[in-house]
Amino acid sequence: MKLFVDTGQVEEVQQAAEWGIIDGVTTNPSLIAKAGRDFKETVLAICRLVPSGAVSAEVVGTTTDQMLREAREIASWAPNIVVKIPMTPAGIQATRVLTQEGIRVNMTLVFSPAQALLAAKAGASFISVFVGRVDDVAGEGMRTIEEVVHMVENYGFPSEVLVASIRHPMHVVEAMRLGAHIATMPFKVLEQLFHHPLTDIGLQRFLEDWNRAGLQIFEPVRV
Ligand code: G3P
Repeated sequence: MKLFVDTGQVEEVQQAAEWGIIDGVTTNPSLIAKAGRDFKETVLAICRLVPSGAVSAEVVGTTTDQMLREAREIASWAPNIVVKIPMTPAGIQATRVLTQEGIRVNMTLVFSPAQALLAAKAGASFISVFVGRVDDVAGEGMRTIEEVVHMVENYGFPSEVLVASIRHPMHVVEAMRLGAHIATMPFKVLEQLFHHPLTDIGLQRFLEDWNRAGLQIFEPVRV
């Protein structure tokens, strides 16, 4: 499963890239606005940090023509950009045109298997199914992931199911169990994936035992 970080903060992407475990980055207009820097400058900085990963950047137009114009511009900035298009009739139409032009699309704001089917039919490379926002209103976000993964596999669509709007590590674990292709998460959740109290306790005990025994790895330097 691919791990993406969902952020507009270049520093977070840098740290995640240094760990060497991320396969891409997703942004959205809210995350870019929160980061407080120029859109193109931010996206290009992220693209440089993950040159072999997919970097999603979203259009803000609402008609097919506006989306196409913005998508072609954004896609021209770097070869690893995937253009995010919202799940609307205009967005579906734009996705079909863009994929025929060879521009990869991440269809966003997908909340149902029916919407995901349309995104797959239009040729979206990634289908971003939001889970946290559904859980927030007492729905079962992961249930949609299960159905969409099944749909994509059943019909052999090349689209990858991207679990978005992740709130906590168990969303990532559930995404993995269900066979989703990608999970994109806030940097905070990525950090949380590292942690287990038994790891901390275990490491502390190893080091205490080692030091108590006076052992060392390197030969002492003789002068
Ligand atoms: O970028 C799409 C998605 O991951 C946003 O998540 O936390 O705003 O629901 P959130």
